[in-house]
Amino acid sequence: MLFNVNELLISLSKTLDFSEKEVLHNNTNHGMRVAYISARIAHALSMSDRHLFDLISYSLLHDNGVMASLQNSSRFQLETEISMEMNSAHCIEGEKNIETFPFLNRQQNVILYHHEHYDGSGFFGISGNQIPLYSRIIALADYVAIRYSLGWDCDDIVKSVKQNRRFFDPVVYDAMLELSGHLEFWLGMDDMFVKNTLISMMPRVIREFNYKQIRSISQIFSRVIDAKSPFTGSHSRGISEKTGFICQYYEFDDTTYWQMRIAADLHDLGKLAVSNSILDKPGKLNKKETMIIQSHPFYTRKIIETIKGFENITEWASNHHEKLNGSGYPYGLNANQLDFNSRILACVDIYQALTEDRPYRKRMSHGAAIKIMQNMVQDGLIEPSVTEDMDSIFKDS
Ligand SMILES: [Fe+2]
Ligand SMILES: [Fe+2]
Ligand SMILES: [Fe+2]
Repeated sequence: MLFNVNELLISLSKTLDFSEKEVLHNNTNHGMRVAYISARIAHALSMSDRHLFDLISYSLLHDNGVMASLQNSSRFQLETEISMEMNSAHCIEGEKNIETFPFLNRQQNVILYHHEHYDGSGFFGISGNQIPLYSRIIALADYVAIRYSLGWDCDDIVKSVKQNRRFFDPVVYDAMLELSGHLEFWLGMDDMFVKNTLISMMPRVIREFNYKQIRSISQIFSRVIDAKSPFTGSHSRGISEKTGFICQYYEFDDTTYWQMRIAADLHDLGKLAVSNSILDKPGKLNKKETMIIQSHPFYTRKIIETIKGFENITEWASNHHEKLNGSGYPYGLNANQLDFNSRILACVDIYQALTEDRPYRKRMSHGAAIKIMQNMVQDGLIEPSVTEDMDSIFKDS
């Protein structure tokens, strides 16, 4: 199918800003703002549309390793975006994680070196043209975006860029200084407009993609979700794999198979919007905390429902906590409203959770997990046939 990759990436990368919200307690639109500034610089440097597409993709994804790089203990000690980015682990994790992204021209180490200084004083000591051009652009865009969202005046940002001139590629630096003289440049990155200004600058890259290729993007986000909580570190991956086995068992066609894998990857996307202080809380949650946790499938739906071609995926991913008797959340849908594939994901989610270690209990055996699921079938909560089939598919695993 013809697929708008930009649209997909903008929707999904919004969730990376949620990870910042967790740390900074406000939403900075950081990824989009870095992409916007990078795109403006690229435009000033007369970059081709193909390069612009890749640069914007790299920019939107540049901090995808932040979650994976934060140790649980340090997560709550960070006060500013500056300290959040000042650790080389997020560059290493981020570079590893984008391996599967379908760039038009893949370039090595763009994310790895996005905080390198032109004079060689950065994390890895790489200097000048050894640093990929995209990284040199993202480094300056990032420097500006961070200070902008900390509320600095435009004049102070420019002053700081000038003081640290040695960090930046002179050509990129000149382009940035030229842009900074126009009020419109700054207005375009306002929270209210940044998404629209970015979209208007993006070359519309519509590519012939099948769902298997789109899965190479959703996989990136499933790893970001899994990195969010140390207690559920392989939950999305496990669900995606098990969903794959089940789809093969039911002999689903290729499109449905990959759509289900994507839905499985993204089902907990909304958890990126839920604070770790609630997600990882030992002990009982109060009413408000329960409500916040239960909102995550709703966020998942809101993030992906506008992506064309994601209609089925949205349903299956967002219904994973609904129950056949209407007692699930957040919609309270009932059997008539839950199709077979939604029921599959709900069952796999339960099975996967039960067979994973949790801080308060060890993983359960296959038999114990299926026993609990059979009780849930008795109570009219989940699909009997899927439970039965999962018993035979995963018996020996
Ligand atoms: Fe960064
Ligand atoms: Fe950044
Ligand atoms: Fe969930």
